[in-house]
Amino acid sequence: MKYEIGVYGLGVMGASIAQNILNHGFSAAVYSKAEEERLHFPSGKYTEAHPGGCLVCESEEELVQSLQSPRKIFLMITAGAPVDSVVETLLPMLEAGDVIFDGGNSYYKDTDRRCSLCAGKGIHYVGTGVSGGQLGALYGPSIMPGGSYEGYLAGEKILTKIAAHVEEKPCCAYIGRGGSGHYVKMVHNGIEYAILQLIGEAYMILRHGLGMAHEEVRKIFQEWRQTKLDSYLIDISVRVMEKYEEDGVPLIDRILDVAEQKGTGKWTVLEAVERGVYAPGIYEAVMARNFSARVEERRAGAGLLTVTGDDMKLDDAQAELGDALLLAIALSYSQGMELIRKASEDNEWHIDQKVLADLWRDGCIIRSRLLKDIKAAAEEAKEGPLVLSGAYREFCKSEAALRKLVVQTESAGFACTGFAAALHYYDYYHMQDMPVRFVQALRDCFGAHTYMRTDRPGHFHTEW
Ligand code: 6PG
Repeated sequence: MKYEIGVYGLGVMGASIAQNILNHGFSAAVYSKAEEERLHFPSGKYTEAHPGGCLVCESEEELVQSLQSPRKIFLMITAGAPVDSVVETLLPMLEAGDVIFDGGNSYYKDTDRRCSLCAGKGIHYVGTGVSGGQLGALYGPSIMPGGSYEGYLAGEKILTKIAAHVEEKPCCAYIGRGGSGHYVKMVHNGIEYAILQLIGEAYMILRHGLGMAHEEVRKIFQEWRQTKLDSYLIDISVRVMEKYEEDGVPLIDRILDVAEQKGTGKWTVLEAVERGVYAPGIYEAVMARNFSARVEERRAGAGLLTVTGDDMKLDDAQAELGDALLLAIALSYSQGMELIRKASEDNEWHIDQKVLADLWRDGCIIRSRLLKDIKAAAEEAKEGPLVLSGAYREFCKSEAALRKLVVQTESAGFACTGFAAALHYYDYYHMQDMPVRFVQALRDCFGAHTYMRTDRPGHFHTEW
């Protein structure tokens, strides 16, 4: 018996992807270096349902030898060095035409490099962004494959079956060459960081800025689910607020305000800086996580630094904050899409943003009702940022709500950097006169760096 696909790595995500594949009736050979994971994999369930449907292999050789040709191996292992090491082990065992899918959060330049390395040996390498956490992996993730197109085609039937579906269309489509699939997944995570930060700030504004009871805040989030804010992250925010300790205290009250990260948000920020794309919401979200670790200094600061402003006051917190949040979230997608557009141009990936909006409509962490509008915006704004599209005019009507919110948080001494960054992004796009005019004069004054003029083309220097 030869199996249709191999899954290498049976941690939480790998085991879930393997079960998803088996649940869809495909046969699979699975393997993990960790004996414990091999023992725990519920292969019996699948062999009972369709005998021979699943084989748990004892070695890499067995995995490779048990696969139908061309072999397809889905790697679900930790990004970074482990991927290089597994690719190195597998390559000599594979034959031209075989395909490796890397389903982890690999750095896109590593994926580029691995694509070339494998292509040199006739092996197809597909950097496959997978989003949706454990349940997504098990019941239908959003899948963003990039790299070898031939390799993608070899696995298309399986990938599109196991992906989430919206109106019978799979949330899986070929993104482009090289590391483009992992690039898109990286930016997906950057947007995820920005939205998580905004939701955290919205919760803090309601609970501590406006002094609402836990239950009131939960109800507001609950009601936001009936609006355009309806999304996976708002859904699970309600779930988080429904969790209580045995003594009745909401669990959220006992969670330390120190946020960790694995690196995809930081990569997104570095990419934005490298490509000159303004993505302040993503930057602030990463920095808020970094700064949160400085617990001792924050404690010291609380005893030293005074706040002289006014307390927060909103007339209708649910509506006003809801409008501001919706606009800020829409602007987060705009920032991420802008980065993807620039990277796609630079690398000639030809990424279609409409396709991304479709891929993200279900299965992934940033799935939301909003993505219908994002798709409409992407359809229009082929050359420019989503924020300037007609589809964004409706969101932008909430500019006053966002501005009022930011003014209030600033005055009350709540650093809501996510909301402020969203407003800055908005304001940069309409300001006709940026302060850098003066910067140019100063640069020329101290260093003869030259400046451009409003009245004629060219670069000029003045003896100041
Ligand atoms: C997903 C998630 C997943 C994970 C990220 C972010 O799409 O399923 O984005 O990939 O949550 O790695 O993790 P950190 O917040 O720990 O950086």
